[in-house]
Amino acid sequence: MTSVCVKWAGQKYDVVADFDESPLIFKSQLFALTGVPVERQKVLAKGRTIGDDSWNGLVLPEGSMIMMIGSAGAIPQEITTAASHPADEEAAKKKIVLPAGLKNLGNTCYMASTLQAFRSIIELVDAIKDYRSTGNEGERSHTLTNAVQALYQKMNGATRQEDGSAQVIPFAVLQALHMTFPQFSTRDEAGNLMQQDANECYSEVLRLLLTDLSRANPDKAKNITQFLEGRMSHTMKCLEAESEPAQTSEERFVQLSCFLSQEVKYLQLGIKSKMTEEIEKESPTLSRNAKYEKKSSISRLPAYLGVQMVRFFYKEKDKINAKILKDVKFPMVLDVFDMCTPELQEKLRPMRAEFKEYEDKKVEQLRMSKVEGIDAPSGAEKKKEEELEQIPTSFPDDVGSNNSGFYELKAVITHKGRSSNSGHYVAWVRMKDDVWAMCDDDEVHQVSSDDVLKLSGGGDWHCAYVLVYGPKKIYKL
Ligand SMILES: *[C@@H]1O[C@H](CO)[C@@H](O)[C@H](O)[C@H]1NC(C)=O
Ligand SMILES: *[C@@H]1O[C@H](CO)[C@@H](O)[C@H](O)[C@H]1NC(C)=O
Repeated sequence: MTSVCVKWAGQKYDVVADFDESPLIFKSQLFALTGVPVERQKVLAKGRTIGDDSWNGLVLPEGSMIMMIGSAGAIPQEITTAASHPADEEAAKKKIVLPAGLKNLGNTCYMASTLQAFRSIIELVDAIKDYRSTGNEGERSHTLTNAVQALYQKMNGATRQEDGSAQVIPFAVLQALHMTFPQFSTRDEAGNLMQQDANECYSEVLRLLLTDLSRANPDKAKNITQFLEGRMSHTMKCLEAESEPAQTSEERFVQLSCFLSQEVKYLQLGIKSKMTEEIEKESPTLSRNAKYEKKSSISRLPAYLGVQMVRFFYKEKDKINAKILKDVKFPMVLDVFDMCTPELQEKLRPMRAEFKEYEDKKVEQLRMSKVEGIDAPSGAEKKKEEELEQIPTSFPDDVGSNNSGFYELKAVITHKGRSSNSGHYVAWVRMKDDVWAMCDDDEVHQVSSDDVLKLSGGGDWHCAYVLVYGPKKIYKL
């Protein structure tokens, strides 16, 4: 690693170059710093132009000056796609290709697991792929969105080793993340990057991506925010003044919180536990503080529902975010009907009936195959399911909504360790049916739904911290 000084547009940047890596890595650092896309950078050192693939033997001493020419303007950028190998595509058809791993750059597993978990949200991945920045000056955020776009593209095109594994270095995303959210760039006394809270990373980055992507694509039917943002309605009733009318308000959310009090053993209970609360606040009719009952219920369900297990609490004594290790079970199929407003429940009923019918029919088919010896659907017959007519999953007048209240688990970010700012984060991402990928930085392994269900906590094993629920497709039988 060599510290060099890059001059661009009258400014100087200190950058750490690694001459053992391809210059592309260095250029992505420059991209993160300046917003000049790699393909528009002309990088000059010692009078030579540096290509993307090789330094051609160039090794610069510490403190050397490098020139960069190129503008960060609004020209829509083409990002070079790494050629996808036809052999990989063949393999992909046959078996499940696990995601490329992400190299740890020093306590960056919180970021890697967030980026892997986002990839379980197909519509988000598509929107990132199609993203073309508006190029408005002063909007720093698009640097991060661009970096995520480039990273996902690299992950898709990454060269696979013989065992099928692949890894990518998320350097540009890390730099853009530090620039956009400086709170993630804290270092310890020795100058090493510190561990960060994965849920904070998940929610901050998701918010930013949604803002950026929705702004860049005003097409209402493709507004990605619609797929991830729900609405919660609150009713506040004064318990000390009967006549005071209840106040209602509405709030948007991208995540629900599951609170882990003593009696909570299941995710659903933890979410519901704080949906009815007693709070104290100033009453306008009594002109003093009074007790209120605050009731919250969901008035719009997004296609994807994030849930945070509130596992960490600030411990004054040790000045750390200490962890609640408690075992709290989470389901593969989550039903949130109970948490919805009566109006929404009414709207969910018809699709729920259909959903139930589908499940009953499937159970019946299974029973028939077992009891009456009729063959269980073979691979070929099963495949038919994909050709069956899929039942719509959103309300016709509300793109990206969920019309039944049923969700299927898509991804989990787990934490292992005793505080949110230490320990280790890992992402578990559903690939297909019961096949999951455990993404532990650059190590990616295939695991099963049973392995994922073991992440409910209670000990020092990985415990579920952030969960992503998404659509489960159902078909007309
Ligand atoms: C996208 O949807 C969100 C949530 O419904 C809304 O607040 C936002 O204004 C929409 N953006 C565009 C560009 O339509
Ligand atoms: C709502 O959930 C049901 C059940 O998981 C699913 O079939 C449907 O796809 C979901 N809808 C959306 C829009 O995600």
